[in-house]
Parts: sequence; structure tokens; C-alpha cells
Amino acid sequence: MRFDIFTLFPEVFQPYLDASIIKRARQNGLIDINLYNIRDWAKDRHHTTDDTPYGGGGGMVMKPEPVFEAVEAVLGTQRQIPLILMTPQGRPFTQKIAKELSTVQHIGLLCGHYEGIDERIREHLITDEISIGDYVLTGGELPALVIMDAVSRYIPGVLGDPTGAEDDSHASGLLEYPHYTRPPVFRGWPVPDILLSGNHAEIDRWRHEQSMKRTAEKRPDLLDKFQSGQDDE
Ligand code: ADE
Repeated sequence: MRFDIFTLFPEVFQPYLDASIIKRARQNGLIDINLYNIRDWAKDRHHTTDDTPYGGGGGMVMKPEPVFEAVEAVLGTQRQIPLILMTPQGRPFTQKIAKELSTVQHIGLLCGHYEGIDERIREHLITDEISIGDYVLTGGELPALVIMDAVSRYIPGVLGDPTGAEDDSHASGLLEYPHYTRPPVFRGWPVPDILLSGNHAEIDRWRHEQSMKRTAEKRPDLLDKFQSGQDDE
């Protein structure tokens, strides 16, 4: 899968892309992440990418010309490829959206900055708008990384365990069950006996029960949406 990221600050991405699972996925050719600096398409001597808002008021607005030119140069003018704007006004990002996006071969992510972007970018260039939460960040770079990361986990081969993304918190609509590893007793705190029993049917049952319990305690709002089975009550 290919991600084309349009940003004014490409340097903030590199350390994250060069670590851990995302680094390995890139090396294995499972994901291809390209960073484009919008400033490279600003034509004037100072490479200006922002300007004061018409109508007055504080803050600066991202100019349309360099953004259009960057996107058209990379994605073409007769575009089928989705271009998603990172904005607190977008639809709230969820695990479901991450999974849906992972089925698309190629997406563009546009990182907003300053007070906002010229509305003509939104109207004539953008195909989708996503927010990663009801708070405001200084730019769309962290949201683009969040989306790229959550989507990549669904691409076959990115996680060591092929079913890895299916068990996650939120994947089933519930929070994930608790995990334990060695030692069996740490500072007097034992691992639950059931996990050492070798009885996989019972372990699956216990884990599902723990997921239900956790979700009820920590995120009761999620239980309302969850399609429960016969024994879940
Ligand atoms: N840009 C600034 N804040 C944002 C948010 N919460 N989600 C997506 N993009 C943003």
C-alpha cells in the first residue's frame, strides 16, 4: 500500500518511520511512504505557503497554489486516489475506518497547518476529512502518522501474527483482555491459573469474559454498540 503525505514539516515523520514495525514493513515493501514538502511547490522567492485571512482576524491560512501544485504533480489531475485532509473538523477516526482504508491501494494525506487551509482546497482537492479526536493540534503531522500506523497494521504481513489486528482492543468492538508473560509469579502476584492450564477452550472463554468486563468498566459506551452473544449477559 502506498501513502503519499503532503506536509510543510516532512522532518517530523522520519524518526517514527525508521523504527519498529513500520520500519520493517517499509523494508519488506509492504508499505511505501512518500513525504512531499508543500514548500517545494511555492513559486515565489521566499517559498511562501501561508497568508493572512481575507476578512481579517488572527492567524495565517495555507495558500491554495502550492497545495494544488504539489498534489497535482504527485497524484495527477485526473485523480482516482483519495486525498484525506487531517483536520479537527473531520469524521472521527475509528478502527473501522482504519480497516476500510487498508483495502485501498494508494491514499494521499494532507497535513493542515496554521489556522487552517484556504477553503478552495477543501472544496476542490480533498475527498475526505478525518479527525483523530476532539482536541486541536498544531498541525496534521501527528494525525497523519496515527492514521498511517493504524491502517498499516491491517496490511497482511505487517504484524508478525497474521491475526494480530483482529484481537486488538476495538477490533471486535470490545477492549482487549489482559495479557501476562513470564515469570508465573512476580513480587508475589501470580498469573491467573487458567492461563497456565493448557485448556484453550477455557482460556478463550476467560479472555472473552475479561474483555466484556473491562469494556463494561472502562468504556460502557462501547458495550451499547456491541452485538452480544448468548452467554454475554
Ligand atoms: N489537526 C489539528 N488537530 C487535529 C485533529 N484533532 N485531528 C486531525 N487533524 C488535526
